[in-house]
Formats: sequence, C-alpha cells, structure tokens
Amino acid sequence: MSTEQTLILVKPDGVARGLSGEILRRIEAKGYRVTGLRMLTPTRELLAAHYEEHEGKPFYEPLIEFMSSGPVVAVRAEGERVIEGFRSIAGATDPTVAAPGTIRGDLGRDWGLAVQQNLVHGSDSTLSAERELGLWFS
Ligand code: RTP
Ligand code: MG
Repeated sequence: MSTEQTLILVKPDGVARGLSGEILRRIEAKGYRVTGLRMLTPTRELLAAHYEEHEGKPFYEPLIEFMSSGPVVAVRAEGERVIEGFRSIAGATDPTVAAPGTIRGDLGRDWGLAVQQNLVHGSDSTLSAERELGLWFS
C-alpha cells in the first residue's frame, strides 16, 4: 500500500471550541504526518467548489453558512491508508451516534441546528483527496 495524502479540516465549531490542538494531537498520535497547515476563513466560492457534490441537498445552504462563519484549520496529512484511517478516527457524520473513541463521538454533540456541526472534515476517496487538496493547498 503506497503513501497517501488527505485533506482534513477542523471546522469552525472545532476552532471556536478550542479543539484544534486536540484534533491535531489525535492525527499525530495515530501516526500520520502533518505536511501542511493553514488557518483561514473560507470564502463561499471555495466552499461551493469543495461541497459541489452536496449542491441542492436540504442542508447545503446551512452547511455553506456554517463553514464560512469563522476560521477553519486546513491540514494536509500523509501516511499509508490515511484517507480511510482519518475517516475512522473522525467517526460517523452524526455526532450523537458516532462511536466513543472517535473525534466526533468524544467531542461532538447535536446542537439542534439545520446542519450537523461535527468538528472535522476528511476526504472520502483518493479522487476527492486530490481534488480537495488542490482547492485548499494550491
Ligand atoms: P465531511 O464531508 O465533512 O467529512 O463529512 P461526511 O463525509 O461524514 O458527511 P457528508 O455526507 O459529506 O456531509 C458533509 C457535511 O454536511 C453536514 N451534514 N449535515 N442532515 C444533516 O444535518 C447533515 N448532513 C450532512 C455535516 O457537517 C457533514 O459533515
Ligand atoms: Mg463528505
């Protein structure tokens, strides 16, 4: 299995709650290497490109609104099977049912909002990773 790279985002809720360090710690403690790091408040244009697969879904507008509401930390992480491995340590999309031991399961909860605020994003395939890293680290 060859080395992969993935895009991880600490979403605005993670940054606002002071959890960026804890999330980076978990990525590094798992053994992945952080090879890129940026803090920025993403524009709607960047988010529209990033989330193009979700356009038209009921949570799309609230998602763009939420993701542009404050700074995020963009992380390029590297390692064998890091794409799958980070999705595993992030846990399920819905933080209420995300398994304990995962980032979303340990640190996230439902806040009764129009979109799930679930602390992190992780690319879901080699194709998405390549596309998303091009958007956030070009
Ligand atoms: P991500 O892309 O952020 O890593 O999360 P994911 O693959 O687990 O989830 P995805 O289906 O790609 O959805 C993207 C983000 O949209 C928000 N979402 N809220 N029903 C809801 O309230 C809902 N569904 C999706 C979440 O923030 C999710 O991570
Ligand atoms: Mg996704």
